[in-house]
Amino acid sequence: MSDPFSQIERQKRVVMLGRLKKLRDEIIKHDLLYYRDSRPEISDFEYDCLKIELENLEKLVGSAEEIEKFSQKIGDDSDPGFVSRSHLSKMFSLDNTYNLTDLKRFDEKIRRKICCDDITYVVEPKIDGVAINLIYRDGDLLHAITRGDGIHGDDVTQNLRTIDNLPQKINWPTGFVEFRGEVFIRNDVFERINEKKIKAGEEPFANPRNLAAGTIKLLDSNLVAERQLSIILYGVGRCDGISYHNQSEVLADLRQRGFPGQDVYFLATGLDEVYEKIEKLGSIKSTLGYPTDGAVLKVNELKYHDLLGCTAKAPRWAFAYKFSPSQVESVIEAISLQVGRTGIITPVAELSPVFISGTMVSRATLHNEDEIKRKDIRLGDRVIIEKAGEIIPAILEVNLAKRDPTAMPFVFPKNCPSCGAILEKSNGDGFWKCKNFSCADQCRERILHFASRNAMDIHQLGSTVVTKLISAKLIENMSDIYGLKMYHIISMDNFGPKSSENLLMAIEASKHKDLYRLIYGLGIPSVGLQTAKDLALKFNSLDALIGATLEKLMMVPRVGEKTASDIIDFFSKKQVIATIEALRNHGVNFSNG
Ligand code: IVH
Repeated sequence: MSDPFSQIERQKRVVMLGRLKKLRDEIIKHDLLYYRDSRPEISDFEYDCLKIELENLEKLVGSAEEIEKFSQKIGDDSDPGFVSRSHLSKMFSLDNTYNLTDLKRFDEKIRRKICCDDITYVVEPKIDGVAINLIYRDGDLLHAITRGDGIHGDDVTQNLRTIDNLPQKINWPTGFVEFRGEVFIRNDVFERINEKKIKAGEEPFANPRNLAAGTIKLLDSNLVAERQLSIILYGVGRCDGISYHNQSEVLADLRQRGFPGQDVYFLATGLDEVYEKIEKLGSIKSTLGYPTDGAVLKVNELKYHDLLGCTAKAPRWAFAYKFSPSQVESVIEAISLQVGRTGIITPVAELSPVFISGTMVSRATLHNEDEIKRKDIRLGDRVIIEKAGEIIPAILEVNLAKRDPTAMPFVFPKNCPSCGAILEKSNGDGFWKCKNFSCADQCRERILHFASRNAMDIHQLGSTVVTKLISAKLIENMSDIYGLKMYHIISMDNFGPKSSENLLMAIEASKHKDLYRLIYGLGIPSVGLQTAKDLALKFNSLDALIGATLEKLMMVPRVGEKTASDIIDFFSKKQVIATIEALRNHGVNFSNG
């Protein structure tokens, strides 16, 4: 019989290869829409997410498949209506990211290669337009070529000549020089053109980049002139007769020679300064007057550019940090139910993964049934996700225009997804609850809470370990952890003698923790960390707390009637008392001082 493990691996691989092929086809489709037709159907952000997924999959599938790395190709903007022309030196694209971790990795790789503590970078605005290569021969503008596939592009010289402040002649020694930059439409011009379009009853342009890309490929230069293209130069390709030493010198020299160049850019040494400058760029981006979608970091010293070299697609000395939208669209793929330690059932949206403000988001809480009804969230809906306070992802609203007409309202299940008990709706707060105290998910959550940092602080008892201990039937509730022996733990995957001993020592140490940690760790409904501290201070022992009357409890600061009766309810459960007795027998500290 064949090895079942390798069979699963093979199946996984087939699924991955299938997704890889689908992703490639999808990216090809969007490339054509974007580069050739200037009529994208998805946002840059959604496109970047597809590329990231492709790159990750390619890494997973590995080189054995001899996959020609599609994601390493440069998006081609070639158009058959234009003469194709070669660049004198290859035009690269840029690797980009929406998160600071990738930026850190980029910097680490460079420092390792150059053996230097802190690198000086130039931080420039990333202009959201169309890349262009200007070739000057003996000081005369000879050709303006779009990036194309990086080797050849379309000759759009006539269209570029409509830009007033682009020098047609420069003071340059004999030979060739290539200057590179971005052609774009200023924000005010974009608005004016779109206003006109709307007045004429026509469809407006989606964004300034599309307008720039569409304009540069117009066959009538008079029309191009009306559209008022702009240009900013930021780099140099082949360069006969003059040598530059650093990027800031290139930027200054471009200005000096009369080119429209970067007005705003910063030198930054070390990552902290880089972050600061990126933030600064983010804060002034709306005042620049042209569309920017991020910051570009370039190693300042040009001698390092040669040392670092390039991949097939991008230089290793430059990187784009893109400003990510804080609101992004995704799809509800499923709605799952989570059982909390108090039995509250929380519906969770399982989303098609999206990047928001630097992290990948694939789940968002839906809070409760009322919230799902209020927002009318249905399976398959396209929804706008937002990071509330930049941390927790939340669903803002459904994009009703994109709803599948057959989508049905979500029906909240009647049974607990963990133990099958009939769910009950608790008074007033709109939450469905599983009232089975022995429900496996509730037990698991209670143990995790008991071991958590603010409670008994047994940090080795994380979610994976607790799940394993439960499935091995070694523990069922929090008191069982004190009955664990070396031979139990060492029998689990990833536990050796040392880690088993550490876990046992941490469990033992937790027996002597302060009383408030135990009170908090028990997971009494309505009792947060501060209330647990107040209760410990007032009653001095767990037994005194268990015996307290409603009136006595309500004398504790911040304890109202609801919390007081939750405490009394909690201690009236026989399973709770049994657990407490077991904790006492194991020698857990029950009092202050
Ligand atoms: S440097 C070899 N600097 O962004 C380095 N590119 O998404 C290549 N872009 O292809 C370019 N602003 O068209 C550079 N300040 C800037 C830029 C910039 C916009 C464009 C450029 C590039 C694309 C990558």
